[in-house]
Amino acid sequence: MKYQEAYRESLENPESFWGRAAEELVWDRKWDKVLEFSNPPFYKWFKGGMLNTCFNAVDYHVQQGRGDQVAVIYDSPVTNTIQKITYSQLQDRVARIAGFLQKLGVAKGHTVLIYMPMIPEALMSMLACARLGAIHSVVFGGFASRELAIRIDDAKPKVILSASCGIEVQRVIPYKPLLDEAIDIADHKPETCVILQRPQAKAELKQTRDLEWADLEGKAEPVGCVSVEATDPLYILYTSGTTGKPKGVVRDNGGHAVALKWSMKHIYGIEPGDVYWAASDVGWVVGHSYIVYGPLLMGATTIVYEGKPVGTPDPGAFWRLISQHGVKALFTAPTAIRAIKREDPKGEYLRKYDISSFDTLFLAGERLDPDTYYWASELLQVPVIDHWWQTETGWAIAGNFRGLELFPTKAGSATKPMPGYNVKILDGGTAEELGPNQNGVIVVKLPLPPCNLPTLWQDDRRFVESYMSPFPGYYLTGDGGYIDEDGYVFVMGRIDDVINVAGHRLSTGGMEEVLATHPNVAECAVVGAADSLKGQVPVGFVVLKAGVSRPHDEIVGELVQMVRKEIGPIAAFKQAAVVNRLPKTRSGKVLRGTMRKIADGESYKVPSTIDDPAILEEIGSAVLTIGYGKKAN
Ligand code: COA
Ligand code: AMP
Repeated sequence: MKYQEAYRESLENPESFWGRAAEELVWDRKWDKVLEFSNPPFYKWFKGGMLNTCFNAVDYHVQQGRGDQVAVIYDSPVTNTIQKITYSQLQDRVARIAGFLQKLGVAKGHTVLIYMPMIPEALMSMLACARLGAIHSVVFGGFASRELAIRIDDAKPKVILSASCGIEVQRVIPYKPLLDEAIDIADHKPETCVILQRPQAKAELKQTRDLEWADLEGKAEPVGCVSVEATDPLYILYTSGTTGKPKGVVRDNGGHAVALKWSMKHIYGIEPGDVYWAASDVGWVVGHSYIVYGPLLMGATTIVYEGKPVGTPDPGAFWRLISQHGVKALFTAPTAIRAIKREDPKGEYLRKYDISSFDTLFLAGERLDPDTYYWASELLQVPVIDHWWQTETGWAIAGNFRGLELFPTKAGSATKPMPGYNVKILDGGTAEELGPNQNGVIVVKLPLPPCNLPTLWQDDRRFVESYMSPFPGYYLTGDGGYIDEDGYVFVMGRIDDVINVAGHRLSTGGMEEVLATHPNVAECAVVGAADSLKGQVPVGFVVLKAGVSRPHDEIVGELVQMVRKEIGPIAAFKQAAVVNRLPKTRSGKVLRGTMRKIADGESYKVPSTIDDPAILEEIGSAVLTIGYGKKAN
């Protein structure tokens, strides 16, 4: 089947298209209905079906006689370790971890929070929860205590699984103090924290609440897989919305497994036994879908990389891994390629390695800018595929296909809509559908395909308000862009207050909430400014309270530290300017869109609703003083 036929069938007859895809999995009970859409905007995939995601990702391959195949390669330049774990070994360890979780009282439907660095136990923890039918919620290690506390209060985990430390390029980051502080801040208190001690920094354990991972796993009995409903939640993954309260995206078991297995073959061109590497982190959706579940559901070998594209030890790190482990497809963010390009513009490090196994480079997390696309294509001489997706969707909305059909690339475009996604461009004001090449709001006509969020964790209302009610009958992606005359999708950026910093999704609203708590700050706004390495970086504008005469540098330094402490280093909030006023409409709305254009050095129209146009000039010079306002290249 080629793309056109697959796409048409997926929209006209989703039941037959996804029903066939679902046959690739092992079900304990077959579904009654492929798609239930009688209560829009809610949709349910594979209702009545029962399965276990961990069984399909691990035990099934052992049963099929592939127990000796390597399932996970842990490659950690920061600890000088390479470890290979077969499917049989993975099954044994996951079953034991599930065993100790069960002893701690974790059962189907309970939540478990995972706060871990990029080590194999992070994957094993996720799979162990899936094995028990428990719901995991992984929190990225770069988030600080307050962010962790918000997630603890929302997910209310019975148990937290963590490690004593993470390792960044130059430093060891003790996780336990961050975890302790988060639990102190949170109203909800987990019954138990299980801590994996790493030799780089041992953690002090609190009596009665904290237990040593090694003790528990050493004594644990392996347990089997618990059958769950296809519609039962597999995990909650928090993602940035427009406020400081993140959205708890829920993923179901059935639709998730079906779409991911389909995607491995048709998008990524991966078969059982192939080596597939997503250089991301298990804390992000890319990590969930394509470090853990996708490759393992397919019976491929996945890589857990504890390192960076540069500095661990050099910009040849990615090429070393591809060569050493025979990687067929690499998936990373454009920012990682830009980091390599910056340190090794001529690609000299590549010459040291034989990368003949390498077949395709996949990029996502932010728009693939044409310069990076051309540089990577010329250097690597393999297809470079941009694909567009979100935490909410769990897999690509638009992209190109290594398995199904490879389309010629148009630089700057994420190529074609994926099967199941009826992508449309609407006028944001009138909600009318726009024609080719007209810029508007990108939406997807309901129902969304399998794997997409069925709701937000215990918050149907926010789910409907955020995504479904702005344009009834459609899912609002939050991105803007256009579709050209050949049906190629161009995603140009967010239309809300979400920004993408080095492929990490962050809320400017969340940062504003932090800045507003500074005692000297009267008003503030944070916008994303174009950055040649990270794509975007947050830039703050603050108005001080009357009578504050402290040096501005001092205040800005405090603001930077506050965001680092409250949200985490990952926010990369390093710049703020003190201004006399913020540009506003006559009704008092801050003109963030115009400020963003000024910060990007783009031309802008003075909005007709502005109360005082002169303020824009002040913003322009403040932006230049802190090093932005000239177009990033
Ligand atoms: N735990 C604790 N701190 C972390 C962390 C973690 N898991 N991950 C990052 N940080 C810290 C970094 O040490 C850095 O701290 P600093 O301000 O003290 O230097 C800060 O958070 C920002 O990190 P990062 O965004 O990684 O920037 P960087 O300058 O260290 O590296 C890149 C830049 C481009 C190399 C890096 O961002 C990268 O590899 N990006 C790929 C992104 C990616 O894979 N995204 C997933 C979507 S596909
Ligand atoms: P996240 O939920 O962290 O995966 O971030 C999703 C957001 O990242 C999307 O809404 C887009 O704004 C952006 N994004 C991800 N992939 C792409 C891409 N290929 N092209 C353009 N934007 C992208």
